[in-house]
Amino acid sequence: MRYQLKQIQCRPWTLSYLSVKLIESHYENNYGGALRRLNAITEQLGSLDFASTPGHVLNGLKREELVALNSTLLHELYFASMGGDGQPTKGMTEILARDFGSLDRWRAEFTAMGYALGGGSGWVLLTYLPRDGRLINQYAAEHSQAVASGVPILALDMYEHAYHIDFGANAKAYVDTFLRNVDWPALQVRYEDAAKVPGPRLLEQPEFADAPGIGVEEVRAMMAAGTPVQVIDVRPRAAISRLQDIAEGAQWRDPEQLQQWMGELSKSEPVIVYCAYGYHVGCKTAIKLREAGFDAKYMNSGHSGWKAVGAPVRMNA
Ligand SMILES: [Fe+2]
Repeated sequence: MRYQLKQIQCRPWTLSYLSVKLIESHYENNYGGALRRLNAITEQLGSLDFASTPGHVLNGLKREELVALNSTLLHELYFASMGGDGQPTKGMTEILARDFGSLDRWRAEFTAMGYALGGGSGWVLLTYLPRDGRLINQYAAEHSQAVASGVPILALDMYEHAYHIDFGANAKAYVDTFLRNVDWPALQVRYEDAAKVPGPRLLEQPEFADAPGIGVEEVRAMMAAGTPVQVIDVRPRAAISRLQDIAEGAQWRDPEQLQQWMGELSKSEPVIVYCAYGYHVGCKTAIKLREAGFDAKYMNSGHSGWKAVGAPVRMNA
C-alpha cells in the first residue's frame, strides 16, 4: 500500500502568528519528508524475505516505519490544530475542567510541557484515553511513545523546525503563539469523535450472570471505612496451603465445605467471597450463598487482583 498525502488543514493564509514561509517549509520538508520516508520503508518491507532477513535489519526498518508513520499522523494533527482564534469553546472548557480541574490548570500543564521541551524536541499532545474516558497531556518523543489506544486531539510540535524560522531559539514565544492560534471548534469536534471510541471490553462471564461482582478497590474502600461486610476467601484448599497470604480482614473457608460454615455467616451484613482470580470458585460460591438468602457478591480479579492493587494481606498461619 501507499500512504496518501493529506491536505494541509490550517489554511496558512488565516494564520496571524506563524509565517507562511515557516508553515510551508514545515509542511513540505518535514511532513512531506516523513511521508516519503514512510512510503520508501513500506516498499522495502513489502519486498523483504522475512525468513532470511537478519533481525537487526528488520528491527531497524520496523522502528523507522513507526517513527515515520507517527510523524505523518502527528503532523496532520498539528496543522489541523491551528488556524483558529484561540478562544476555548464552552464544551471544551467543561471537558478540560472535568479532566484537569480547570481550563487554566490544563493550559498551565500543557504550556509548561512545551516550555520544558525548548532546546530539546518532541511532541506535546492532548490525548483521549478510551479505557478511562478522559483526556491527558502527554509527551511523544521520537514521534512515537504515544499512549497505547490513545487518540491525540491536539498536537504541539516542539521540534526546532516548527518554530526556528520565526522565533529563533525562543521556544516560549512559539508555545504561547501556538495556544493563541488553536482552532477550538475543530478541537471539540475531534474530541466528540474520539469520545465515541469504546474502551476495551470487560471480561464477560455469562454463565455466572446471576452472581453480582464487585471490584477490589470498592471492597478495599468498604473495609477501610469500617463498613459492615463479611469477606470470605474461598480459594480451594490446595491453593491456600501453597500460598500463605490472605486479604487482611478476610477469613478463609473451604469452598468444598460450604454447607458446614454457611450457618456462621450473618444475613444482615453483605458477604463478599473471592477465589484466586475471580472465576469459577468465587462465582459459584456467591451463587450458592445467594440461593440460601445471603446478600453475596464475588470479588472481581480475586486474590490476585487484591494483591495487584497493593491492598493489605496477612499470613494465614
Ligand atoms: Fe514538525
